[in-house]
Amino acid sequence: MTVSHSERQQATTRALAEHGAAPGALLPVLHAIQDALGYIPDDALDSIAAHLNLSRADVHGVISFYHDFKHAPPARRVLRLCRAEACQSMGGAALEAALRQRLGLGPDENVSGDGIALEAAYCFGACACAPNAMLDGELHGRLDLETLEALARGVAEVEP
Ligand code: FES
Repeated sequence: MTVSHSERQQATTRALAEHGAAPGALLPVLHAIQDALGYIPDDALDSIAAHLNLSRADVHGVISFYHDFKHAPPARRVLRLCRAEACQSMGGAALEAALRQRLGLGPDENVSGDGIALEAAYCFGACACAPNAMLDGELHGRLDLETLEALARGVAEVEP
């Protein structure tokens, strides 16, 4: 999901107008922005800090402290790859490495440029169908690279 600069500004302005005058306004303002956008954009911090007479570090500190606040737009799709024993014995690690390469993800990156998030999982209880992955909550088994990439990109429907 791409959020334009204008959308980010509008959400921030609306949140400050609705909650900015109340005592202890920071958390309600942050929640309102996240409800509107799915995350707290970095370019909203200066406006929030100025409006609430706080430093940018104060605002950043609160966002960082609470794990429910997101710093980046939510992923378009979440692909959980099983890293447990049965899936690894069926080539899971090589499959993940190859998928990362196709999605253009470095070793420390977990969200591709087109919004596909890769997450680790540790056994879905479907070991007989290894290697397995779960896409947006739906389990898929006996995966090969072509099927996995098609699932991640949403270009193919595959029977779970
Ligand atoms: S080890 Fe992957 S589903 Fe059990």
